[in-house]
Amino acid sequence: MKTILISDVQEAVPYIEKSQVVAFPTETVYGLGANTYDEKAINKIFEAKGRPQDNPLIVHIADKKQVNVLAVEVNSVAKKIIKEFFPGPITIILKKNEIIPDNVTAGLDTIAIRMPASKIARDFIKACDVPIAAPSANLSGSPSPTQFTHVMQDFAGKIPCIIIGPPSQYGLESTVLDCTTEKPEILRPGIITAEDLKKAGIDVINSYSFFKDGIVKSPGQKYRHYAPKAKVKIYSGSKDIKPDSAFIGITALDKKIQEQFKKLKICKNLLEYAKNLFSFFRDCDEKGIQFIYVQKVEEKGIGMAIMNRLKKAVG
Ligand code: TXA
Ligand code: MG
Repeated sequence: MKTILISDVQEAVPYIEKSQVVAFPTETVYGLGANTYDEKAINKIFEAKGRPQDNPLIVHIADKKQVNVLAVEVNSVAKKIIKEFFPGPITIILKKNEIIPDNVTAGLDTIAIRMPASKIARDFIKACDVPIAAPSANLSGSPSPTQFTHVMQDFAGKIPCIIIGPPSQYGLESTVLDCTTEKPEILRPGIITAEDLKKAGIDVINSYSFFKDGIVKSPGQKYRHYAPKAKVKIYSGSKDIKPDSAFIGITALDKKIQEQFKKLKICKNLLEYAKNLFSFFRDCDEKGIQFIYVQKVEEKGIGMAIMNRLKKAVG
């Protein structure tokens, strides 16, 4: 299959209309999208990614009103999130409307909804005139794509169309917030933190326990994820560095230690760490680096999202 790269979102519309998938940029990571109401197209997403059938997709919207079409029982917490944080890097889980095909939600009676802040993403969804169901545009298990070149690494020749945009502003997937429970609960930590939600008057459970009473609440969280080919190790201050390895973190190490790394990235702050993490993993793989040290950060604020991804990458 020939993969075309486009920057005019209008050119993507015929692919969506013909039950094809299209990769598109968002402020978190790139997505692999299809028409939410087109079961056949949704199946192509699962096939292209090699994604387990029990892992539901996020439905992306361009207009807040679309929430009322996709979900039933849009409760007060959801309304508040929509008012304060949409569009933005947060996904809400609500009871789904029965019109949504079962393969979008992996048979669950709930649906994940997100309105991206990225203007190109919203222009694309608007142009298609349907909500766009999309997981991250990476092969299942590999690091999420934060640049269109990453999408090409995984899908060139396998999907017909990639919309080119800038590198993702945040570089980590959205915060997933379950709004169906009495007290809303963060199922996947992200750039919008429990502290941010609290400031808006929304108290959440933030242990991101993905099992409850033996039931998997956020299926995506049970899989090994975000992993480069290289072995990933959380750096704990050792002076004994493996040869030809890489390091990413936010604190400059002792010069003598730093000099031992083949590839080194010291980020200015947590936001920059988040933004660079997945592309660092991919760069290391391209260079054939076998071992990556990642610096531990405090599991607070954005640090919680970073540590969640690091632990998954370690496996
Ligand atoms: O930032 C993002 O969220 C990106 C961009 C493309 O929007 N998308 C993304 O999608 O990360 P994906 O498929 O890689 O992750 C979706 C997560 C998975 O952990 C999935 O299990 C969870 O959301 N999820 C989706 N629907 C759910 C539902 N009904 N209940 C609980 N978890 C759900
Ligand atoms: Mg993903």
